[in-house]
Amino acid sequence: VHWTAEEKATITSVWEKVDLEHDGHDALCRLFITYPWTQRYFSSFGNVSNETAIVGNSKVQAHGKTVLGAIDKAAHNLDNIKATFRDLSDIHANKLHVDPENFRRFGEVLVIVLATKLGLAFTPSVQGVIEKFIAVVVDALSHSYY
Ligand code: HEM
Repeated sequence: VHWTAEEKATITSVWEKVDLEHDGHDALCRLFITYPWTQRYFSSFGNVSNETAIVGNSKVQAHGKTVLGAIDKAAHNLDNIKATFRDLSDIHANKLHVDPENFRRFGEVLVIVLATKLGLAFTPSVQGVIEKFIAVVVDALSHSYY
């Protein structure tokens, strides 16, 4: 994937506003509440049966930070995203058996979390760059499924 200097600068400036714990928690809660069938992979997290339980679940909170922590690595290694996600792709495909369609859904909720956070600064051109970044992340995570 090719990034222009402007795209790199946009990703860096958006990503430095991200709070891995808070925004990761927001995104994961949104995933579980909007697409309830995604909860089924997380039986080890205990009660995620309704909105209050999801939002108050400390494992959901910790995992949101873990997931955004991985995307944080990608944001700092834009020219090497595929390699950054090689092991994680293998784990999701062959150990966790997560349907990769769910990566795309997580990407969508993350866009909404970022849009809410940035408000008017989330212009259409910023959205375009962020969508590209997330698409590259999703593609890299999906790599072991091919
Ligand atoms: C675990 C990243 C999406 C299901 C993990 C881990 C990371 C990660 C870093 C920890 C791996 C380890 O412990 O070695 C990501 C990223 C995603 C993503 C960057 C971005 C799209 C998803 C989605 C699902 C999912 C959409 C399911 C709907 C899981 C499960 C675990 C896991 C079930 C194990 C959780 C546990 O038992 O601790 N993921 N993930 N992931 N992921 Fe993902």
